[in-house]
Amino acid sequence: MSAPHRILHPDLRARVMSPEDAAGLIASGTTIGMSGFTGSGYPKRVPLALAQRIEAEHAAGRPFRVRIWTGASTGPELDGALARADGVEYRLPYNSDPIAREKINAGRMHYVDMHLSQVAPMAWQGFLGPLDTALIEVSGITEDGALIPSTSIGNNKTWLERAGQVILEVNRWQSEALSGMHDIYYGTALPPDRVPIPLVRPGQRIGQPTLRCDPDRIVAIVETDAPDRNQPFAAPDGVAEAIAGHLLDFLRDEVRRGRLPPSLLPLQSGVGNVTNAVLAGLLEAPFEGLTAYTEVIQDGMLDLLESGKLSVASATAFSLSPEAADRFNAQAERFRDRLILRPQEISNHPELVRRLGCLAMNGLIEADIYGNVNSTHVMGSRIQNGIGGSGDFARNAYVSIFMTPSTAKGGAISAIVPKVSHVDHIAQDVQVLVTEQGLADLRGLAPRQRALAIIEKCAHPDFRPALADYVARAESGSFGGHAPTLLDEALSWHARFVRTGSMRP
Ligand code: COA
Repeated sequence: MSAPHRILHPDLRARVMSPEDAAGLIASGTTIGMSGFTGSGYPKRVPLALAQRIEAEHAAGRPFRVRIWTGASTGPELDGALARADGVEYRLPYNSDPIAREKINAGRMHYVDMHLSQVAPMAWQGFLGPLDTALIEVSGITEDGALIPSTSIGNNKTWLERAGQVILEVNRWQSEALSGMHDIYYGTALPPDRVPIPLVRPGQRIGQPTLRCDPDRIVAIVETDAPDRNQPFAAPDGVAEAIAGHLLDFLRDEVRRGRLPPSLLPLQSGVGNVTNAVLAGLLEAPFEGLTAYTEVIQDGMLDLLESGKLSVASATAFSLSPEAADRFNAQAERFRDRLILRPQEISNHPELVRRLGCLAMNGLIEADIYGNVNSTHVMGSRIQNGIGGSGDFARNAYVSIFMTPSTAKGGAISAIVPKVSHVDHIAQDVQVLVTEQGLADLRGLAPRQRALAIIEKCAHPDFRPALADYVARAESGSFGGHAPTLLDEALSWHARFVRTGSMRP
């Protein structure tokens, strides 16, 4: 490796060591607060070395498992490697790694699926227990020991403040132009000392560009050149384009009716191919001067920034495909004034989402005829990813929009069901539902009106008659007429899928 030019603090240069030596400072049974949010800004060498050490301990017959807290999902070198080594006892607050998912669903790993805005406050409240080690990727260390963050902020500020010891990975792959893009707000407190967060526009800066950390608590520094690892997006298919088309028509209509300004309101967008198709659609749509107050900057956001349609975007992390990450790194300087990364307790803060009036756009697993949404559990029991920030935004948004293809698994599963098998978002937090079939505007509708709208506009034609039949029988035969439910039948579609591999009768 070349000279540690990203580490300008003279004393800290002396703490550079190998990833194996740094991993040796972590004990079994302890809790590690790691950086990382999507495939961005997570430590890449120490977790791999720790996984090797765990495998060696297990081979020698010695148990070795750790507890991992992060910002959200991370990359294969962290979640994948540690899960494969069977080294994770407990994980929070979000996971999308397939190996970790299998361990969780096999009952081998405890997983606490949390609202992302609540992680830092809960750590401060002491509800999560002590934090032994912070393991944080940064893009540099200044002469006076301030830490220049990397491509995600997540919970790094909190981990650095709470942990007994700190291990840093300094990543030279990250663009030096990241310096100055971050806004770390140090004004949060616990009740009764909490005060309003002074942010009223998505582009406002209310904090400082670097993370603080007492150099005396830094026990190891590891250097790396390893890239972030986010998945490339598939080109939008016909279904994603149809969903985006319905949503853009809706937004145009809201502007025409004077219910949204022509520049819309700050956009929040979940990650995935459907939301990327929506962002691609916005490139062609007649809205100008857009803003984003969201969790992650994905490819579509970068395109909108480049086109000038999006004036500013605030998030807690990048989630760029390798191609978009190269594009960003080549011209990061150009985006400096228009991109802001914040701690996730600020990017997802309910107070700010409500004040700014975000337009929340998130994906789902299934919705029921009354508009309750399951974002996390397949057939009620298998975790897919987690609630992530969808609850932070959906409950507090100006308009809360959920989007999904109307079927899954080649048409065997209807995304619209009589009753969701798990609830993440209650009907009150689901105002607009969109599938490739159409868009149901549920605002102001009572449950039986919701059912009619959802079945007619959103359900796949193959499942519409069965849903209409269910509602008709429920209306005459259920215990109550407000949200008629046939208790013996409400989850029978799921039971049939588990039994036969299809929800179809
Ligand atoms: N029943 C069973 N499986 C289903 C399903 C259903 N009703 N709906 C989707 N799935 C499966 C898909 O088949 C796919 O499985 P695969 O990986 O084996 O192919 C997987 O779930 C992902 O679905 P996909 O259609 O590719 O959609 P997506 O990438 O848009 O993800 C969520 C949808 C709900 C999983 C995703 O949006 C999510 O994790 N949401 C919660 C967190 C969130 O909203 N974060 C953003 C907030 S800022």
